[in-house]
Amino acid sequence: MNFDLTEDQAAIRDAARDFAESEIAPSATERDLNAEFPSEIVKRLGELGFMGMMVPPEWGGAGLDTVCYVLAIEEISKKDASVGVIMSVNNSLVCYGIEKFGSDHLKEKYLKPLASGKLLGAFCLSEPEAGSDATQQRTEAVLDGDHYVLNGMKNWITNGVNADIYLIQAMTDKSKGYKGISTFILEKNTEGVEVGKKEDKLGIRSSDTCTLGLNNVKVPKENLVGSEGLGFKIAMETLNGGRIGVAAQALGIAQASLEAAVKYSKERKAFDAPISELQAIQFKLSEMAVLTEAARMLIYQAALKKDRREKFIKEASMAKLAASQAAVHCALEAIQIHGGYGYVREYLVERYLRDAKITQIYEGTSEIQRIVVARELLRD
Ligand code: CAA
Repeated sequence: MNFDLTEDQAAIRDAARDFAESEIAPSATERDLNAEFPSEIVKRLGELGFMGMMVPPEWGGAGLDTVCYVLAIEEISKKDASVGVIMSVNNSLVCYGIEKFGSDHLKEKYLKPLASGKLLGAFCLSEPEAGSDATQQRTEAVLDGDHYVLNGMKNWITNGVNADIYLIQAMTDKSKGYKGISTFILEKNTEGVEVGKKEDKLGIRSSDTCTLGLNNVKVPKENLVGSEGLGFKIAMETLNGGRIGVAAQALGIAQASLEAAVKYSKERKAFDAPISELQAIQFKLSEMAVLTEAARMLIYQAALKKDRREKFIKEASMAKLAASQAAVHCALEAIQIHGGYGYVREYLVERYLRDAKITQIYEGTSEIQRIVVARELLRD
């Protein structure tokens, strides 16, 4: 497998890096402290083509490959993982779902503005009683003439407060189990949609997360994505790509932690020498570098397979599992290397740890990724 970047891929990486350094990094600490959504940054990301990176230009996107996408998410998440997840949800979960399964009418009406950053999307699968066991959807959608009526509750919705559009799963036929789940596009300003309070989170604090109540919400019949009963397949296929995006987000945190640790260890002196000369520190740096690089290779592998239209379920889960472990490990070790300074806000590594933890939870916990990998191994 050739991991050399093409000129275009390197150019996208550099553009994302420049944007992250000049426009994301300066306000990241303050936004984290105030749990402030980066509205202006998201708008600029849209103008630059980062909100619909893999969507073909005829549907408003940048028409780039998944490798470009992971390179951009890594660079952006290195400076602020909150921005990384906002971008990842819009690209991988919302745009992809509509592009792959939606009608031309839905693409014209919703995908174009979502991919060009004029609208923001959120993905609604989890419920208070359906998390890892996502097949157990309680939200119902009942056909009534020319519209469906939705009732239920969704939670842990990334972008939920600021999104304009929700890609939402609901049960249209309970008797069929997960084969009775369907996907809809729901506009936020529809009567009966109740956006719950913003969660006060440990990390990724400048992204928003909320519950969504649905009380007799009318969704036009044509907003059904694909056909009735296709919802779980749409959710799972969409999440496969989403897991590559979260893996790239985690990689950005791991890489930022490693770079911070290397820099600090060369500057900080103890026992009359930089601490980088101590073997205890060198072992830590080596382990961090190995985990980060291994995660990067798994991510590129998953992205390349997706771009070649090969099956990539196992590779996406392996990438997410490894990258999220690398992120948590590297952030923890970066704090350890910084000592007391690592424990205060002045140095960024404490944020890296808080941001890293969620990558082991959302879009399928590490335990779910292990289940997915094992099932794929045993199936082969
Ligand atoms: N890709 C494609 N299809 C998949 C799949 C995958 N990764 N995982 C399962 N499926 C398919 C199965 O093949 C099966 O279909 P068939 O019957 O047609 O073969 C169907 O889905 C049901 O699968 P299982 O019988 O294996 O069902 P299960 O309940 O035993 O396991 C699960 C399913 C893997 C645990 C799944 O529920 C899962 O992935 N859970 C985690 C949910 C998740 O990731 N939630 C994230 C919330 S979204 C989020 O976090 C977004 C955000 O805002 C950041």
